[in-house]
Amino acid sequence: MSATGTPIPMISDASGPLSGVAEVPGDKSISHRALILGALSVGTTRIAGLLEGQDVLDTAEAMRAFGATVTRHGPGAWEVEGVGVGGFAEPDRVIDCGNSGTGVRLIMGAMATTPIAATFTGDASLNRRPMGRVTEPLALFGAHAYGRSGGRLPMTVIGALDPVPVRYTLTVPSAQVKSAVLLAGLNAPGETVVIEPEATRDHTERMLRGFGAEVTAEDTAEGRVITLRGQPELTPQAVTVPRDPSSAAFPVCAALIVPGSEITVPGVSRNPTRNGLFATLLEMGADLGFENPREEGGEPVADLRVRFTGALRGVETPPARAASMIDEFPVLAALAACAEGATVMRGVRELRVKESDRIDAMARGLEACGVRVEEAEDTLTVHGLGAGGVPGGATVESRLDHRIAMSFLVLGLAARAPIRVDDASPIATSFPDFEPLMQGLGAAIRREGA
Ligand code: S3P
Repeated sequence: MSATGTPIPMISDASGPLSGVAEVPGDKSISHRALILGALSVGTTRIAGLLEGQDVLDTAEAMRAFGATVTRHGPGAWEVEGVGVGGFAEPDRVIDCGNSGTGVRLIMGAMATTPIAATFTGDASLNRRPMGRVTEPLALFGAHAYGRSGGRLPMTVIGALDPVPVRYTLTVPSAQVKSAVLLAGLNAPGETVVIEPEATRDHTERMLRGFGAEVTAEDTAEGRVITLRGQPELTPQAVTVPRDPSSAAFPVCAALIVPGSEITVPGVSRNPTRNGLFATLLEMGADLGFENPREEGGEPVADLRVRFTGALRGVETPPARAASMIDEFPVLAALAACAEGATVMRGVRELRVKESDRIDAMARGLEACGVRVEEAEDTLTVHGLGAGGVPGGATVESRLDHRIAMSFLVLGLAARAPIRVDDASPIATSFPDFEPLMQGLGAAIRREGA
């Protein structure tokens, strides 16, 4: 099954050097948040560089269903006329979040302290993913959720009539859960506190401050304590969305495994809660340079230069780094297959509940391509075959998971025989221009039959 209904098989072949400028799309996490906070402000928020992937388009549609006016003015240029904190209207239709865990979990949080009901659903991938991690803390505010067994979608959430503020310690290292609690806290009186034992991406905190909410973060022995003062009036903003480091990861890793490559990725986010992959690649011996550091839309960004050296070596990624590169493990696993020695990824249990079970999806796909892997509940080990050592010559299942599809198309560029991905259509959820962008750099990626 595919995200859009029609599977799109794609093939990647060994490529000549990649070169040029990779203008990757806007950050997915920040794009969702810009739409949601725009909808919770009074007045017009203007967004530049919004990611126009299906996940974000589904969130835009959801904001309309809750009463905001959301208008597209040009590529990446959007306006949101918000309804204010506590101003969400009750949707008259089911909210379909498609493939997006971030979309559904953040929106559930944003509506959970307003006395309205909303029913959420998604595609076959999203409807398998756990929502209890979000509905449990939302229940502390006074919200109720009725879903399928295992806390799965479709699910109806009834927002609290008289919300109370919450103090909640995350039980999983999840920015989605943290953000759901903070967004719910917006319409509760007093202070809502979230404690995260392991730091996760902090875009919600940064953006809430940008929109005028009072949010503090303090590092303590328990972890990071984030405090939000409830019931602020959010002021509309002009938001510039930086480029997504998780999307940049694909051309970057491709350039590191295809001999002779040299590319640049301008304006990529350098947020420290997102930079675990770059730290790991440097440890592996990659030639990466960050130039022209600056701030865009409240986030640090830089221009990234990447050069193939052919001398990547396997490393161990520590559990403490996992959250800062959680979406990058699939492409790291692909790259690790082309490194010398083993790469051991520890503390990666959360990969089991992403768009697919990413540990299993990468392990099975890599094995099919002739790479030896070891898998434990919380660890993935890839035994690298060195530059030019991956046999390839297999069909790999993408399992409705954009990052699995892109990771294997990247690996095919450096494998001895082509790699076929059974369905590349999910790539449209996060990186709609992946195919032309990669082809523009010189990557031999094509649709089957084309
Ligand atoms: C996201 C958080 C991460 C990440 C997802 C985007 C976000 O999920 O995997 O792609 O925007 O908050 P978890 O918070 O569940 O780890």
